[in-house]
Amino acid sequence: MTLSSVRAQLPETALMKVEGLPFPKIGSGKVREIYDLGENLLIIATDRISAFDVVLPNGIPGKGILLTQISLWWFARAGAVMPTHLVPDHDAALAEVLGEKFAFLAPRSMLVQKLNPLPIEAVVRGYLAGSGWKEYRKTGGILDHRLPEGLQESSRLPVPIFTPSTKEAEGHDEPITEARCAEILGEEIFKQVKTATLNLFDLGSQIAAQAGLILADTKFEFGTDANGNLFLIDEVLTPDSSRYWPQEGYAPGKAQPSFDKQFVRDWLEAQPWNKQAPGPVLPEAVVRQTRDLYLDALEKLRTVA
Ligand SMILES: Nc1ncnc2c1ncn2[C@@H]1O[C@H](COP(=O)(O)OP(=O)(O)O)[C@@H](O)[C@H]1O
Ligand SMILES: [Mg+2]
Repeated sequence: MTLSSVRAQLPETALMKVEGLPFPKIGSGKVREIYDLGENLLIIATDRISAFDVVLPNGIPGKGILLTQISLWWFARAGAVMPTHLVPDHDAALAEVLGEKFAFLAPRSMLVQKLNPLPIEAVVRGYLAGSGWKEYRKTGGILDHRLPEGLQESSRLPVPIFTPSTKEAEGHDEPITEARCAEILGEEIFKQVKTATLNLFDLGSQIAAQAGLILADTKFEFGTDANGNLFLIDEVLTPDSSRYWPQEGYAPGKAQPSFDKQFVRDWLEAQPWNKQAPGPVLPEAVVRQTRDLYLDALEKLRTVA
């Protein structure tokens, strides 16, 4: 989709649930609805937003469209590194599945090969932020990764590091060592996953840099087919799965402004809320600003050829 048609299709009100599709729904994640089409899955991103693992009562109008379009843009590039879950001739195949009646869902939908998701989240960090920074401050490293002394919040790491976590159906994902990850996945798949993760991060960082963005960290998911071949699945390098910072004004020693939900998290942290569902309703100004950040991220990436 062109950028102007993405903009033109952003709705005024948030789409919080999807109704009436003639396919069996096999999953409803925090953000996405997943329909079973036999060999393929139809994954539809709603405008729901989650923070601290709680889906908030109101959404961000158009966020699902922006997330899907950012993922598709990256999938097109990630294909140079490894196979992805997108079906061949994606847009035409998707249009066929949705038909005229549900064509309005196309900008927020992905048609993908059904794969076995690996039970880990492939986290990779190029900079010290968030939970990585917290742990470094306490222990001087991140799990099994020793890091140099004297790093500051938002410092660039000497080399990007692979810091996987478990993928929990309920509750919070737990960080695990590479050794534990290799036990869970088996040595062969572990090696492939780690290499793919670092290569994809490298590609993502280089392209983001051309858009004036620093890719501080991100999370990939992988799946295997019946023959054990590895594919990149889920969403890729979106502001929901990644921490992007503007290059301009980047300075370690403090938190950086970012293009992700940090803005929402900061607002929530200032509320009297115990982080259990239901969360507070986001005020209109926070909704608008969050949507502008997601749109800004897509627009910046789209400046790269
Ligand atoms: N190609 C695929 N095959 C099977 N499962 C997939 C595929 N791509 C993504 N998934 C799964 O679909 C779900 C996406 O929904 P989402 O709302 O992001 O869920 P979550 O709350 O777990 O993040 C994830 O659990 C992800 O692992
Ligand atoms: Mg997800």
